[in-house]
Amino acid sequence: MASELKYLSGFGNEFQSEDPRCPGALPQGQNNPQKCPYGLYAEQLSGTAFTAPRSENQRSWLYRIRPSVLHQPFEKVKNGHVTHDWNEQPPNPNQLRWKPFDLPKAGEKVDWLQGLHTVCGAGDPRTRNGVAIHVYMCNAPMGDKAFYNADGDFLIVPQQGTLHITTEFGKMTAEPNEICVIQQGIRFNVSVLEPSRGYILEVFDNHFHLPSLGPIGANGLANPRDFLTPVAWFEDRDIPEYQIISKYQGQLFEAVQNHSPFDIVAWHGNYAPYKYDLANFMPVNAVRFDHCDPSIFTVLTCPSNKPGTAVADFVIFPPRWAVQEHTFRPPYYHRNCMSEFMGIIYGKYEAKEEGFQPGGASLHSMMTPHGPDSQCYEGAVTDPLKPTLIADGTQAFMFESSFSMAVTKWGFDGCQKIDPAYFKCWQTLKKNFNPHWRPEK
Ligand code: FE2
Repeated sequence: MASELKYLSGFGNEFQSEDPRCPGALPQGQNNPQKCPYGLYAEQLSGTAFTAPRSENQRSWLYRIRPSVLHQPFEKVKNGHVTHDWNEQPPNPNQLRWKPFDLPKAGEKVDWLQGLHTVCGAGDPRTRNGVAIHVYMCNAPMGDKAFYNADGDFLIVPQQGTLHITTEFGKMTAEPNEICVIQQGIRFNVSVLEPSRGYILEVFDNHFHLPSLGPIGANGLANPRDFLTPVAWFEDRDIPEYQIISKYQGQLFEAVQNHSPFDIVAWHGNYAPYKYDLANFMPVNAVRFDHCDPSIFTVLTCPSNKPGTAVADFVIFPPRWAVQEHTFRPPYYHRNCMSEFMGIIYGKYEAKEEGFQPGGASLHSMMTPHGPDSQCYEGAVTDPLKPTLIADGTQAFMFESSFSMAVTKWGFDGCQKIDPAYFKCWQTLKKNFNPHWRPEK
């Protein structure tokens, strides 16, 4: 159960972990001894180029019962609803909003991998440049099947149901209001015990970093010690056909092997999956007037090569006090050189109390105007500006990307969740212009 799992605390640390059933499994003083303790094999998992600068370099050493090369050849299997074909549909610059994505029907068994659906994205994993946004809807464990993504990292945002995740590095859970990151190449299995739904931000270019804090100082936003990495756990289980599914260049492949891939007895390194509880985020905001930009709520960022510009940011809109004087407090009207995909984990988003629901989503593409609906505007310009706890009982989030994303065929048609009336929420915004207005004296 979740409470029984142990974790290592910190972000990007050089961790060391041994399954307590095999004390001394971790070689001391060197990475690759002639013979490892307990007859284990040593294997390195590289998450950055060998020659990446030390501050960026990520790799882990794994001490396992069998090396991961021991599998049958990969064969192509059906992709289901996972795609990186961004030309399935003509481009569409409209504001888009999705009603909550459907959970599997009663009597239908869908595991996490079968329940993956790509909504939108851009770029190409072959050139390691781009993003994809997926949702998952599932209700069954994956069984003797493990998945790894050769194309990039997954940032997983559960919205409903707890994910019980077994990774090569150990076990972790992720429940709504927590997120987890499973990096390129790491094998994992997801088990769910109830109908479950969530969102995934996939980045091809780089790994997620904590944002620089600049003048904020050493503390605030997401603090490193609140990131939790699983401890080593292994199973020594021989079975005739364990399935390994790979997403490679946007296509799914399957190989079988005769044993569980979760056979790592000890590991050390700084390339390992982690989770984070969004309740630990320390919001920072304007305390007199106006707004900070929403980047002030960045939990994790995947930087591009362009300074200050993210491949994608994961941003939340957590419960917080609004105290600004003489200020229009909701999110401002906006056109952006970035793409903004939003989802909501629970509650009601302050700029649109109706229509944007938990388990649904919205996409405001490059330079597509967006902002508060008429109802929100009218309230915000007349409500007294007392200190107010906003977004109480709510957790909305944004995947903001510098890529101009395309929506997939499933995202437009297949899911049947697009709300064609979305644009109407702004149509009743009134013209309030009065050329005779003069400042009060
Ligand atoms: Fe915006």
